[in-house]
Amino acid sequence: MFDERFKGRDFITILDYTRDEVETVLDFATELKERFKKGQPHKYLEDRTLFMIFYNQSLRTRNSFEAGMTQLGGHAHFLDPGTIYAPALEGDEVAYSTERVSDVARVLARMGHGISIRIYGDPVEWIYGKANRIVREFARWADIPVINMECDIYHPCQAMADILTVREQFGTFKGIKFVMSWAYSPSVHKPLSVPQSAIVAAATVGCDVVLAHPEGLELDDRILAAARKRAEESGGSFEISNDMREAFAGAHVVYPKAWTSKEFIPPIAEKPMLEETQALFDANKDWICDDAKLALADKDVKYMHCLPCDRGFEVTNEVIDGPHSVVFDEAENRLHAQKAIMALTMDEVGGGPDVG
Ligand code: CP
Repeated sequence: MFDERFKGRDFITILDYTRDEVETVLDFATELKERFKKGQPHKYLEDRTLFMIFYNQSLRTRNSFEAGMTQLGGHAHFLDPGTIYAPALEGDEVAYSTERVSDVARVLARMGHGISIRIYGDPVEWIYGKANRIVREFARWADIPVINMECDIYHPCQAMADILTVREQFGTFKGIKFVMSWAYSPSVHKPLSVPQSAIVAAATVGCDVVLAHPEGLELDDRILAAARKRAEESGGSFEISNDMREAFAGAHVVYPKAWTSKEFIPPIAEKPMLEETQALFDANKDWICDDAKLALADKDVKYMHCLPCDRGFEVTNEVIDGPHSVVFDEAENRLHAQKAIMALTMDEVGGGPDVG
């Protein structure tokens, strides 16, 4: 499917896309999923190359992008910043160890058809917003699409897979109570990107979104405002609760996951305040998704998580391995959603099966 609206565009945040465009991606992802299941070829990106730069670990993102490019007829290169000259912003350069992002972006853009980047946390010293600046700097210099594989503000591809899963499960977004909840983890090294993209995505398509978290674990004010605005535009709603049980009441989707406190990382804090964050986390160990809390939700509630999850902390084994869990559909949908994103943004010439 070739759609002029998507040609050559970056995919950094769902906020750059209208509701209609988001639903077009979901429709195309569904079509690609059906073709994949039937073994029908769908080589929209024959001979195209995606360069994937991973500053962080990954199971799902790397393999869904890499397998996705193969299935679309192209190829994905895995680039480890430690074995190239690590792309760095002006001012952060180290001679013969890093290379300015503007140079890396322009070199790769001469050789391939898309660049995707994962960067958050330690590689940017937990300075909130810096990873997003790096992704945007790539987009500024590369005249090919740049896809965000998770920065410190957004994880848009995860969020597309999330809402694709919701639509598959319920057939609609209207009237769906979507609860994005903080949950306890013994690790405080958790970016804000997944919950921030999830609430934006669910609000964009018209869900009734509830964000639940203990006090002190608020998300970025700009994202909250954007989610509220998107909910107003879509006919959905957006509320915040500081009570996990109250939030779960009548929920159709629960998505309990840990994220760190923006108050305890730069630029609000001078440096990452790990002990203070740990104390805040430890004071909220009861924020676990278990059978008792799930019983407060709708009888057909779906448990979601981007994975990897912290079993026994964020969620009990009974819930994640139980009948309400759709986490493996959600993980699989990374493949289909990203194939739709790549085919729509990287198909510059209208190639592929539909136009022969
Ligand atoms: N959900 C997600 O992005 O998983 P990975 O960290 O394994 O890529």
